[in-house]
Amino acid sequence: MSETAKIQLGDEIFEFPVITGTENEKAIDITTLRAKTGYITLDSGYKNTGATTSSITFLNGEEGILRYSGYPIEQLAEKSTFLEVAYLLIYGELPTKAQFDHWTHKITRHTLIHEDMKDFFGAFPSKAHPMGVLASNLISLSTFYPESLDPDREDSAVDLTIMRLIAKISTIAAWSYKNSVGHPVVYPHNKYNYCENFLNMMFSMPTEDYEPDPVVVRALDQLLILHADHEQNCSTSTVRIVGSSKANLYSAVAAGAAALWGPLHGGANQAVIEMLENIQRDGGGMQKWIVKAKDKDDPFRIMGFGHRVYKNFDPRATIIKKSCDDVLNKLGINDPILELAKQLEEVALSDDYFISRSLYPNVDFYSGIIYRAMGIPTQMFTVMFAMGRLPGWIAQWKEMIANKEPIGRPRQIYTGATERPYVPMAKRK
Ligand code: CMC
Repeated sequence: MSETAKIQLGDEIFEFPVITGTENEKAIDITTLRAKTGYITLDSGYKNTGATTSSITFLNGEEGILRYSGYPIEQLAEKSTFLEVAYLLIYGELPTKAQFDHWTHKITRHTLIHEDMKDFFGAFPSKAHPMGVLASNLISLSTFYPESLDPDREDSAVDLTIMRLIAKISTIAAWSYKNSVGHPVVYPHNKYNYCENFLNMMFSMPTEDYEPDPVVVRALDQLLILHADHEQNCSTSTVRIVGSSKANLYSAVAAGAAALWGPLHGGANQAVIEMLENIQRDGGGMQKWIVKAKDKDDPFRIMGFGHRVYKNFDPRATIIKKSCDDVLNKLGINDPILELAKQLEEVALSDDYFISRSLYPNVDFYSGIIYRAMGIPTQMFTVMFAMGRLPGWIAQWKEMIANKEPIGRPRQIYTGATERPYVPMAKRK
C-alpha cells in the first residue's frame, strides 16, 4: 500500500500522498491541499519546501553527499573535466567520445562574442563590479540572437543557445576584468581548452604569447566542477522561476547571476577574503571575531561558514581545502591569509556555538584562497562561481521546461490593513 500523510483540521482529516525519491527522500505531496482544505502552507525561506522533483543532483546534507546524475563529486573532481561535467548535467549521461568531441568543438568555436558587445564593456565605469557587468551582458546576449529565444523551439535551437552561453560566459567574464583594469581585451583563441582560454583572456596581453600553467588550469577546472550544480539553491530556484514564465534562457541565467551575487550565496567567496584581510589588518587575533559572530546584536557572521543544507560537512570544502594546499605548494606561494583561514576554522570548530549549530566551512571558505593564488582578483571570485554554476542553471532550466512545470507563483498570508475608505490628503493627520 502506498504511504500517505494525514492532516487534521478541526474534526476533518485529509489524506495526501507521500512521494519517495530514488534515494528514499520523502515528501508530502500537497498539490491538492488548498483545493481540499482552503489552507496553504507557510515556509519562510522554503526551508522545508520541495519546489520540484529533479533527476540532476543528489545532495544529502547530513552525510555530506553530493552526486551529479549519480556520480560522486569526489570522483568527478578527480577524474573528469568541467566540459564533460557540464554535458553530464545538461544531458543526464556522460558523453561518448563522439558526443564530447562535438560538444567541445562547438563550445570552443562559439567563444567569440559579437563585436558590438565590446562597446558595452567600455560603457561601464571602470569601478563597476564584474558581477553587474556579467549579469548585464548575459541578458544582452538575448538581443543578438532573437531567433533563438523561444524555450519551446526544437532541441537543436535550444542546444545552440546552451553552447553559446557556456562558450561566451568565459569571454564576458574575462573582458569584464580587463575593463576593470583598463586593459585592452584579449580575444578567445581556439588552440586552448576551456580553462586555458579563459586564463589567456584574463592574463595575457594582445601582443604577448601566454602559456597557462597546467597546475592553475587543472585547479580551475576542478573548481568549476565543484560549483557546477547544487540542486535547488537560491540562484537555481531563481533561474527555474524566471524560466517558468517562458522568459528566454539568457534572461533566466542573468537572473541566476543576480541572485548568486549576494554574500549569503555566491558572493561569500569574495566576502571570506575581505573578512580574512580585515582580521589580518586587525592584528590576526581570532577571539574578537568569534565573539562578534556569536553576538546576535552584531551583524557580523563568519563568512564561508554554515550552510542551509550541509549540517555535517560540505564535501566540496573538503576537496577544496586539500586542493588549496596542493596548489599553493606547487606554485610556491606562501599566503598568510591561508594560515589565518586555518586558524579561524580551528577556533570556530572547537567552539560550542558553532558545534551546536552544525556550522562548518562551506565551499567558499577556501576557494577564494586558490583564486588569489591564481592571480584572480577578489572582485572576480563570484564571477568564477557563476561560470562554474552556469551548466547547473541550464540543466535545471531544461528539466523545468521538459517537465512542463507551471509558472512559479507562491502564495502568501496577508497581514496588512483590512479594507478601509480612501482618506483625502487634506483630512490626513
Ligand atoms: N556565522 C555565525 N553564525 C552563523 C553563521 C555564520 N556564518 N551561519 C549561521 N549562523 C547561525 C545563525 O545566526 C543561527 O543562529 P541562531 O539559531 O542562534 O539564530 C544559526 O546559525 C542558523 O543559521 P541560519 O541563518 O538560520 O541558517 P540558514 O540555513 O538560513 O543560512 C547560510 C545558511 C549559508 C546563509 C548561513 O550559514 C550564512 O549566512 N553563512 C555565511 C555566508 C556563506 O558562507 N554563504 C555561502 C553558502 S555556500 C555557497 C552557496 O552555495 O551559496
